[in-house]
Amino acid sequence: MKGIILAGGTGSRLWPATRVVSKQLLPVGGKPMIYYPLSVLMLAGIRDILIISTPDDLPRFRRLLGDGSQLGLRIDYAGQDRPRGLAEAFLIGADHIGDDPVTLILGDNIFHGYSFSRLLEKSVMDVDGCVLFGYPVTEPEHYGVGEVDAEGRLISIEEKPEHPRSNRAITGLYVYDNSVVDIARGLSPSPRGELEITDINRIYLEQGRARLVELGRGFVWLDAGTAETLLAAGQYVQTIENRQGVRIACIEEVALAKGFIDADACHRLGKENDGSAYGRYVMDVAREFH
Ligand code: DAU
Repeated sequence: MKGIILAGGTGSRLWPATRVVSKQLLPVGGKPMIYYPLSVLMLAGIRDILIISTPDDLPRFRRLLGDGSQLGLRIDYAGQDRPRGLAEAFLIGADHIGDDPVTLILGDNIFHGYSFSRLLEKSVMDVDGCVLFGYPVTEPEHYGVGEVDAEGRLISIEEKPEHPRSNRAITGLYVYDNSVVDIARGLSPSPRGELEITDINRIYLEQGRARLVELGRGFVWLDAGTAETLLAAGQYVQTIENRQGVRIACIEEVALAKGFIDADACHRLGKENDGSAYGRYVMDVAREFH
């Protein structure tokens, strides 16, 4: 299973904060936003990851995460010069995907919940078709919206419908088998000029090969795309971290827990940031692991 993090776009809803830096590098709870989607892929056991961003921002992502080897990962980078739609990720990433299945996650999506790691591992295992994740929201018209029948089977998907048929948003985490590349190659731009991920999902649905996993109550899904949601995400993370004394989306801790790196390597990574509480936390995690 390969992974892709889509972290491009103009960040226009956050201007001027994102005039000179990518939204996905802005801090959420004391760490760059991209740590959250990256840790989701790592929790799913995915180690071969492509980060797609604007040619302008790519060098900054590269400086932050390098080739990923320090985390026991392989990270590659590719540019998207204009936001032509989420589905373009599979065209840009076709070589990276090769003959494998792939999980795409949007760089501004934040997931947190009990047992998420197990749910993810299960979802990416032997995927035949696609796996989508549904989440109840109060304003579904801003998202892809999924409708299910009485048995909980997905029966329709619409992108930002004026009159949503349910309150179930389709989150920015998508697991696909390898046919996604061919499906993406066959897409035409939508009326708003984008290659739509919802069109891909609808094709899988029509083939009877789309599965919806419900993320229920008690689960948190946030997209940090506006000033309000960015602040709300930071406050949520800070509240949990302060109360429990554990960090959300600490990529060094995830790498250690998954066995991608050993405790010495984790300690060294913490030491690189020992000026901050984050770095000291990473060193503590490594010490306690011994
Ligand atoms: O967050 C989940 C939602 O994401 C889904 O429910 C929708 O079905 C899906 O279309 C998408 O909706 P958004 O309105 O959030 O998409 P947006 O255009 O804002 O793009 C999401 C992120 O992806 C954003 O951080 C910028 C980045 N992006 C977007 C496009 C269109 C790219 O990197 N490249 C692109 O071409």
